[in-house]
Amino acid sequence: MKNLSNKKVLFIICGGISAYKSLEIIRLLKKNNAEIKTILTKSAKEFVTPLSITSLSQGKVYDDLFNLENETEMDHITLSRWADLIIVAPITANTIAKLSQGSSEDLASTVILASNKQIFLAPAMNVRMWEHQSTQDNLKKLKNYGYKVIGPVIGDMACGEYGEGKMSNPTDIYHEIYNFLSKQTKNRKIKALVTAGPTKEFIDPVRYITNKSSGKQGYELAKSLSKRGFETTLISGPSNLKIIDEKINLIKVETADEMLKATQKSLPTDVAIFSAAVADFKIDRQNQDKIKKQQDLTIKLEKNIDILNYVSNHNSMRPKLVIGFAAETNDLIKNAKIKLSSKNCDWIIANDVSKKDRGFDSDYNEVTIFYKDSKNKDEKLSFKKKSKISEEIVDRITAQIN
Ligand code: CTP
Repeated sequence: MKNLSNKKVLFIICGGISAYKSLEIIRLLKKNNAEIKTILTKSAKEFVTPLSITSLSQGKVYDDLFNLENETEMDHITLSRWADLIIVAPITANTIAKLSQGSSEDLASTVILASNKQIFLAPAMNVRMWEHQSTQDNLKKLKNYGYKVIGPVIGDMACGEYGEGKMSNPTDIYHEIYNFLSKQTKNRKIKALVTAGPTKEFIDPVRYITNKSSGKQGYELAKSLSKRGFETTLISGPSNLKIIDEKINLIKVETADEMLKATQKSLPTDVAIFSAAVADFKIDRQNQDKIKKQQDLTIKLEKNIDILNYVSNHNSMRPKLVIGFAAETNDLIKNAKIKLSSKNCDWIIANDVSKKDRGFDSDYNEVTIFYKDSKNKDEKLSFKKKSKISEEIVDRITAQIN
């Protein structure tokens, strides 16, 4: 089978006795026609040689940040953008600690920090180091950032001890990579649309009504979808957030009317996720000139079109999967279930916005997914980073759509 053709894997090897096992993963990837570039950390070179890796991978081996400053080389940003997936195998307790701190002291950590791709980590270390609270805390942080951790497994260690800490079997690691990359290829043919952020409804040329939405959850969802290969369009209301993934088609809008038009233009799509906090009302007649100070002022509002409703009831272009959001301060379950059916959604993702540490403008969230299909039970995704919540939502989207 040659089905990893056109897939690009950036393979990072850290220092550790199991580094030699990575050669087998590289061999399997190459056998399936993946394109591989490798980074060796300084200590990895004590265990494997650049020559053995180039011979197997037939790709470039990098070991030094300064190498990349040569104009003929890729810079670290280009290198991290080049990859479809980054795997660090083995990853040591030290590199786990460095990554959890956002360190960028060598080429491997710099490329990872600059990456917007899926990163897999295959830890290998002594059982005590693995079980140490600091290692576990660091890993928890990395998982929260969206890193995928493979293994380690239990077994005899090179140091003579027995326990959890052995790097997973190369074939198992290869299968994880293979599954991710082949799903990514399948998803390439699948279009996903995400609305995010607030909208601004103008009263006059300088004043407007808006809400507290930051757009973070929607941006994270778009990033996760794109990482998995979905052809992603993000329609965003005003937000300070940046997107560094050039594959995401970002459309910036201000008002609900503009968001509706952009959505209509982006149809048909296979998946549509409505995370935007669209203003329910707009000013019925926007003043062309700035309103002057006066004793009192009455502004008449009229209802905005519900974009989600428009899409979910479209007779010819309803997406296969329509996902709405429900931001609630009370009666979450009841309100979410009402929205699920009244807005004709396949799923409603509900969150409680009455708590300060999650939801609006926070990096964290806790959500419950309600499904139209009664075979699926409601699912709570417990309190965690919005990036991780997005990964978990996209896991479910990938399973459903494929
Ligand atoms: N939504 C939309 N267009 C609108 C209003 C809402 O697409 N004009 C979408 C949101 O993006 C979200 C879902 O509808 O996915 C729920 O929005 P919400 O404002 O919570 O629901 P409402 O129906 O406005 O109910 P509420 O009375 O709770 O505000």
